[in-house]
Amino acid sequence: MNYKEIRTQFLKFFEEKNHKIFPSAPMVVKDDPTLMFTNAGMNQFKEFFLGNSVSKNKRIADTQKCLPVSGKHNDLEEVGKDTYHHTMFEMLGNWSFGDYFKKEAIAWAWELLTDRLKIVKDSLYVSVFEGSKDADKLVMDKEAYSLWSAIVPEERIILGNKKDNFWEMGDQGPCGPCSEIHVDIRPAEEKAKIPGASLVNQDHPLVVEIWNLVFIQYNRKADGKLEPLPEKHVDTGMGFERLCMVLQNVQSNYDTDVFTPIILEIETITNSKYGVKEDTDIAIRVIADHIRAVAFSIADGQLPSNTGAGYVIRRILRRAI
Ligand code: ALA
Repeated sequence: MNYKEIRTQFLKFFEEKNHKIFPSAPMVVKDDPTLMFTNAGMNQFKEFFLGNSVSKNKRIADTQKCLPVSGKHNDLEEVGKDTYHHTMFEMLGNWSFGDYFKKEAIAWAWELLTDRLKIVKDSLYVSVFEGSKDADKLVMDKEAYSLWSAIVPEERIILGNKKDNFWEMGDQGPCGPCSEIHVDIRPAEEKAKIPGASLVNQDHPLVVEIWNLVFIQYNRKADGKLEPLPEKHVDTGMGFERLCMVLQNVQSNYDTDVFTPIILEIETITNSKYGVKEDTDIAIRVIADHIRAVAFSIADGQLPSNTGAGYVIRRILRRAI
């Protein structure tokens, strides 16, 4: 499947489950002082989760352009050194606003990946929130564990801490426990030597998270306290470029057809070859990644400039140059 077919398959699947297909919001955020750029698919739906406004559709699915320019894995200086992180990426997502919850979110994610998209079940691992003993005193997500254990053998269910399995939009806002789906695309001989379960969340380039299913049930207030929301919601995000890597049987996001035409053009313009020398490869990946981030930012209304969001774009452009 080419990348366009993969995107369509995702949206079609959720349309069949009665989701309204929504357009991506602009990547540049103009009306939220806490955010310069869209960092997750749920940003445009924040007010629905908080109950401040009501969505006409209780189920929505989309693909969202994201530019998460802060945080460990999105440290600008690191992008291009590995094969699976980006400045800008597309997040495929499905949402329930006070409608379905964990049971359907888990069952449908599994159905789409294994039944529809034919990813080998044995290559998938899932994680469940183990609870936390800190001030939030959160309990383990036993419901998600029991739902997963009905479909996945227990040795492929991993308990995760708050850092990995409790998703928050930022210092404030909607949040809740989450279940991640990870895929192990290592060659069989490596799988035989080291079990995939031990490599989940260990920054292995071939054992990567592809989908995060967040069960939104709290609002993190300005004073740091968690307030239960009146309704429960689902917020999921799947890394489109990583899904393409898995489905196109390659071992790098940059070897998918999302990136290969751009890389080909860079090779032509710079008279260099991708896949020969590591330094050159990093440089080519940096340009291929950054050109997308800069082009989509400009298209969404943010030119490079000296301050604020414009300065972020200028830094990305400058690094590519
Ligand atoms: N909002 C969740 C994330 O960005 C799905 O990972």
